[in-house]
Amino acid sequence: MKKLHLITLVVLLLSFNSFAQETKSIYATMSLSDALELKKDLPDEVEILEKRRNEAAVYFTDHAGHYLHDKVLVHGPGYIFKNSEEDAIAALYKEAKEIPANKMAFTITEDVLVNAALDLVNTQNIEDHILELEGYGTRYHAFPIAIDVANDLKDKWEAMASLYGRTDVSVRLYNHTNTNMPSVIMTIEGDVTPDEFVIVGGHLDSTSWDDNDAPGADDDASGIATMTESVRALFELGFVPNRTIEVMAYAAEEVGLVGSAEIAEEYADNNVDVISVVQFDMTNYNGSAIDVSFISDYTNGTLNSFLMELIDHYNSDGVHTITYGTSLCNYGCSDHASWTSEGYMAAFPFEANFGQHNSNIHSPDDTFSVSGTADHAAKFSKLCAEYLIESAKSNVLSVDDILVNAVAVFTQNGQLIYNLEAASRDFTSIILYDIQGKKVLEAPIISKTGNVSTQSFSKGVYVATFVVDSETSVSKKVIIK
Ligand code: BES
Ligand code: ZN
Repeated sequence: MKKLHLITLVVLLLSFNSFAQETKSIYATMSLSDALELKKDLPDEVEILEKRRNEAAVYFTDHAGHYLHDKVLVHGPGYIFKNSEEDAIAALYKEAKEIPANKMAFTITEDVLVNAALDLVNTQNIEDHILELEGYGTRYHAFPIAIDVANDLKDKWEAMASLYGRTDVSVRLYNHTNTNMPSVIMTIEGDVTPDEFVIVGGHLDSTSWDDNDAPGADDDASGIATMTESVRALFELGFVPNRTIEVMAYAAEEVGLVGSAEIAEEYADNNVDVISVVQFDMTNYNGSAIDVSFISDYTNGTLNSFLMELIDHYNSDGVHTITYGTSLCNYGCSDHASWTSEGYMAAFPFEANFGQHNSNIHSPDDTFSVSGTADHAAKFSKLCAEYLIESAKSNVLSVDDILVNAVAVFTQNGQLIYNLEAASRDFTSIILYDIQGKKVLEAPIISKTGNVSTQSFSKGVYVATFVVDSETSVSKKVIIK
């Protein structure tokens, strides 16, 4: 009797196990050709719910999801997770929103700040951060460690902001419905138009055929480290943006853009005025003759052109040279696609031409040692700084139309540094006010470039007023660290 029970139990367990393996659990969209191929390979594990144009809504097993991932190395299929059959089918019929013309007005005006930022990008910091993230062993979204990874990044970003005395910066965890892993969002509040958002993002999770061993150094510790170093350089400059900047480390990208999809949807539902979004996913493998390959599908052409113009303007020669080209991913292969499908402008500058990228991703071999330096990622960090400064623009408090863009000011190494070379008129003095409006310094301006020591001042926000005469002055906010 006892024996029979045991046998029944074993039989039951076995049948439950095989039942569990075949149960479909994931609704998603993917390219039609990939869906057809997947269906051919795993007929019992995949159901094609609906087809439209070159996309399909599908319902498949967890195993089929993993099977897809392993094939990415061959020709790159991927899927976009959806909550239900209804959502998956609806996604096929979603049309991109019209983007208003005034949102397309990209300009290049912040040369002094951008050039200073380029010199500050530190390759070693990127390397250290990639190694730190690789060191978790895995950042697979469904493991408890993924929650620690997110909390630790929040702490790191908060420490960085406070090191530079930034009271305008906050970091929050964004909790999701479809994963236990939170995303991490740093917000640098805009000083003039805080309701306009400029966003950069990358994914914090990793995956591998052995999810316990998923170092994810290139995919995508590199993107997180790239953005972090850019922002650190902006903090070192005391850059105060007009628009709000958000830096996003998304959860659960590897299982169908889960984190970014929830965030982009919430932003769209709340009509958040997102000017544009740039994705940094895989930045540290130098696999092509060109440095940056702009992925031209599921991205916005105007934004892609702007990023290329930035490189033409700032990186055409010298130590900061960057070369670029374009290629196709052939599917919505990273979080930029979440923003694109909500009707926002998004771009995806990628480490190499598609196909020449790091072939170690999604495996235990995706380690920093494959590249050995962070030189390649540093180029993306520079592009990120250019994009953030030129899209969010630097703070301006009082406006004299002709003069205002000609006044560049930032702080570095205990000095306030100014450059007035582009100004059409001569300035006579510089006055520095503290946050209470108290004059803490007044000095004559004898040359169009110069600096004053800020070493004796406490950390915080100050106003630097450049005086032409009793009628005309330009004031800008500066942060002393
Ligand atoms: N970093 C990859 C995307 C990628 C891989 C772009 C190779 C270009 C070349 C990303 O993390 C990823 O793996 N994406 C999934 C698709 C996503 C919708 C789940 C993929 O490619 O399978
Ligand atoms: Zn990735």
